[in-house]
Amino acid sequence: MSRVLHRSGGTPPVAVSGHGVWLRLADGREILDGSGGAAVACLGHGDARVAAAIGAQAGRLAYAHTGFFTSEPAEALADAILEGSPGGLTHAWFCSSGSEGTEAAVKLARQYFLEIGQPERTRFIARRQSYHGNTLGALSAGGNMARRALYQPILSEAFSHVSPAFAYRFQNDHEDEAAYVDRLAAELEAEFARLGPERVIGFIAEPVVGATAGCVPAPAGYFRRVREICDRHGALLILDEVMCGMGRTGTMHAWEQEGVAPDLQIIAKGLGGGYQPIGGILIAGGIIAALAAGSGAFVHGHTYQAHPVACAAALEVQRIIHADGLLENIRAMGARLEAGLTDRFGNHAHVGDIRGRGLFWAIELVSKRAGKVVFDPARKLHERVKREALARGLAVYPMGGTIDGVAGDHVLIAPPYIASAAEIDMIVDRLGEAVDAAVA
Ligand SMILES: Cc1ncc(COP(=O)(O)O)c(C=O)c1O
Repeated sequence: MSRVLHRSGGTPPVAVSGHGVWLRLADGREILDGSGGAAVACLGHGDARVAAAIGAQAGRLAYAHTGFFTSEPAEALADAILEGSPGGLTHAWFCSSGSEGTEAAVKLARQYFLEIGQPERTRFIARRQSYHGNTLGALSAGGNMARRALYQPILSEAFSHVSPAFAYRFQNDHEDEAAYVDRLAAELEAEFARLGPERVIGFIAEPVVGATAGCVPAPAGYFRRVREICDRHGALLILDEVMCGMGRTGTMHAWEQEGVAPDLQIIAKGLGGGYQPIGGILIAGGIIAALAAGSGAFVHGHTYQAHPVACAAALEVQRIIHADGLLENIRAMGARLEAGLTDRFGNHAHVGDIRGRGLFWAIELVSKRAGKVVFDPARKLHERVKREALARGLAVYPMGGTIDGVAGDHVLIAPPYIASAAEIDMIVDRLGEAVDAAVA
């Protein structure tokens, strides 16, 4: 009997090794990793170069407390990902997960306004159906009502939520894209007004909403409007790229495709590709300048922040993404995945929407396309898809509660950046069979 407390009921199969896009289980089965776990394993599995970098760093220096020292890999990683100060982001702070990144972004944002003499700013605006992590601060920021429900009484009231930018579900029939963006912008504006604009610290959003809504890019122009509203009210724009960032959508940062840059950006998953637990925040020069002119130090920290071995792994992952031209492969294989999904599911009776960017795609499942009717949540269709896919040697990331935390089902597909054309086609084939079996 397993003594590990697993995520759900029983003990899942044991994964023992991996190579490329494949995971090998203890019983000998080979599983095609069509989602890199939760869009994590961007280089796939068993990359000997990353393993060597980890081993070398662990042998040289595994740990030195960041209250006393910095380390070569932490400095090199920050230099590598901030080369050219993308979008005015000049500094990085590293931690061990996406949730820790959200906590740090929220705390640094609050501290920033104390540094510049605006202590009255105490409120954050976020969006329903977004996810920013599971620690209490990050869960307070998140808008997935199902994940919040149990803990609602102990969540922070400093966060309020506006509508997601989710066209398939919430753009009205009589509305074009521009009118939809106008409506969302007006709602955000009204929330600033309700709270008192001078009390708002910032707006938090995922540029492409990941697991909770299923790879939802915003309508064109939405983030430019959001940026403008934040700027006008002196609030910060905090973008959570834990899932959609570090190349996943075909550009290193998802915000590059939106014509805006954030003041604070949260990163994780694709940063270290799962070879080590690592996350972080990227920080705009203005925030760093305010800190330098004020108290001088971020009042926050963790024992394992900027861990040398984690930073060495992430540094090698990022080096490989560039050296092996993987952004190009993401774009090429992303186009192939889009075409494959469209071909296989474009006329499928139970697929209502196919959406995403780069190697970050989802299909939304419906019981009837006309009227976008959902399956009864009690059927837990997403779980069936997961089982049917695994039975066919495919791991993807299905999720329920797509619309409001309860209703709706989608399947997220996020292959490693190294995926070949044949592997992309195999993911689509196996997923097609799994969906057909699950809805039968
Ligand atoms: C957008 C987003 N933010 C934050 C998190 C939390 O990251 P972690 O699970 O590493 O704490 C996740 C995890 O799925 C995520 O998708």
